[in-house]
Amino acid sequence: MSQEALSNLLRENRRFAPPADLAAQANVKESAYAEAADDRLGFWSRQAERLDWATPWTQVLDWSNAPFAKWFVGGELNIAYNCVDRHVEAGNGGRVAFHWEGEPGDTRTITYTELKDEVCKAANALTELGVTKGDRVAIYMPMIPETAVAMLACARIGATHSVVFGGFSVSALRSRIEDAQAKLVITADGGYRRGAPSALKPTVDQAVTDTVENVLVVRRTGQDVEWTDRDLWWHDVVDRQSAEHTAQPHEAEHPLFILYTSGTTGKPKGILHTTGGYLTQVAYTHWAVFDLKPETDVYWCTADVGWVTGHSYLVYGPLANGATSVMYEGTPDTPHKGRWWEIIEKYRVTVLYTAPTAIRTCMKWGDAIPAEFDLSSLRVLGSVGEPINPEAYVWYRERIGGGRIPVVDTWWQTETGAMMISPLPGVTHGKPGAAMRPLPGISADVVDGEANPVPDGSGGFLVLTEPWPSMARTIWGNPDRFVETYWSRWPGLYFAGDGAKKDEDGDLWMLGRVDDVMLVSGHNISTTEVESALVGHPRVAEAAVVGANDPVTGKAIAAFVIVRGEGEVDVEELRAHVGQTLGPIAKPKQVLIVPELPKTRSGKIVRRILQDIAEGREIGDATTLADAGVMDSIKKALDI
Ligand code: WT7
Repeated sequence: MSQEALSNLLRENRRFAPPADLAAQANVKESAYAEAADDRLGFWSRQAERLDWATPWTQVLDWSNAPFAKWFVGGELNIAYNCVDRHVEAGNGGRVAFHWEGEPGDTRTITYTELKDEVCKAANALTELGVTKGDRVAIYMPMIPETAVAMLACARIGATHSVVFGGFSVSALRSRIEDAQAKLVITADGGYRRGAPSALKPTVDQAVTDTVENVLVVRRTGQDVEWTDRDLWWHDVVDRQSAEHTAQPHEAEHPLFILYTSGTTGKPKGILHTTGGYLTQVAYTHWAVFDLKPETDVYWCTADVGWVTGHSYLVYGPLANGATSVMYEGTPDTPHKGRWWEIIEKYRVTVLYTAPTAIRTCMKWGDAIPAEFDLSSLRVLGSVGEPINPEAYVWYRERIGGGRIPVVDTWWQTETGAMMISPLPGVTHGKPGAAMRPLPGISADVVDGEANPVPDGSGGFLVLTEPWPSMARTIWGNPDRFVETYWSRWPGLYFAGDGAKKDEDGDLWMLGRVDDVMLVSGHNISTTEVESALVGHPRVAEAAVVGANDPVTGKAIAAFVIVRGEGEVDVEELRAHVGQTLGPIAKPKQVLIVPELPKTRSGKIVRRILQDIAEGREIGDATTLADAGVMDSIKKALDI
């Protein structure tokens, strides 16, 4: 990135100190950084002691076959026991594990005792169906409690689960079932989305392959389903089981789950996570980054369980910590645009974890909507999934957090398993848009093309310099691809694929994928920077920027903008605004006003499609979009 552009972005100089009361009682203090730096493995060893081990480990880390790590070698534990049974044994069985809210308004309250019974019954059912340790189970479900129960039942018996997001198509589901050679698929007749039942079972019917012996179906919507010999109703098989099940310990490196990264190119990669190190880091980070007080907090992660955020921070982290969580089935605007805020008011949610794309959508809907609800229970706000632009950060802090509470911007990936870079709410003086520092026990740096750390005030490639407990162990069935994809750019360094910069204080600002950096007239400009500048204009609700091929400048910046408020917007004014913020070199050549942006189901903008539009080409494959109708409204607005 050009030094000029960089120093302009770093003009963002608002600072938010931690609230005094939170800081005084914070789970983690400043001293944690130094403690962990002095003895990293000792630090992680102490964090592993949050869990109940059946057999203690003899070695914290075996890195002799790098990059294939073994953590807590020799140790044995059961994840379901740690997430459920031990809380009941400690006398907390009456605590709510999940306040579940169905989209149509039906609710269920599930205590730790009830969760334990359900998980035991499901574990007995899986065993009856012939599923044993090491088998793979595909889970294709809506956001209902049985989804968490199914994951925990697999973990309990040592079957490796592969959760496939319920919005994925037949071919995506089939390729994942095939790659993992799943023996069982757990699904539902359907789930509720946008006010209507949305079927899942027909997709499974078309996606099952030879290895699948049974399909276990939860009845959620009651819609009609086709039925074959291999299909079984969950209520027929699970409900009649005993609620007693003795959890056997599994090796620390036993495969817990495979999760396929949606990757924009190539065959999806089955990221493998294992048992002891994974649970250690998700439990620690969930406790540290959200300052979790399990007795009093009500925590809500809005992510779908089909993504890694749902695995680590809706299921495993919160349950390992004995937290009370909200789980919501549906969309934020059903039946009205205040649904999320209504849920926060209803359950007195204290910690909210969501994504910048959702925050910007709520910004677009207007300040009046959250203002109607009592959000005063909130005390920590989290963000994940993409860089959070300063305007969205400040809106989140002000309009949702009442200007009183910290925002933690957490950087991590499917491959890292758990949070890696994030503020700590009782320690960090937050900067809007910055993920700040690696968490205690994590080592990261920003390097140039030759792997030299860049000085403060410069940008480069984000790398992780030491192994961490929840790191991916391999790509399922393809260890060579694991080495090649993540570990071969520079020896000994994990390259995350992201760009980042260090500011003058050495704090980290994430810039998104490096393939999203545009070379304009010899200057590196990141799409994130230009998007941030645009969203800094009062009339811009959301912006997506791409580099379109240009015979003169190499890349020319094209910006797609969603407008906020009433009346026409002067495109020239927006271009000038970017020029003033980042320097003339970053002025978009084209600014296109659109009603919506093409996004994947996980909320990532599909820049390839925007590039097609900007370069005046036929629009390519749009099947990965969350909403196919978006393309029509964009084309109509642009008259193409
Ligand atoms: C990519 C990983 C981590 C769970 C959700 C996404 C981007 C994620 C941030 C953040 C800037 C972020 C990165 C990363 N990303 N969080 N706080 N700031 N960028 O998981 O689908 O594996 O995507 O999401 O580009 O590499 P994922």
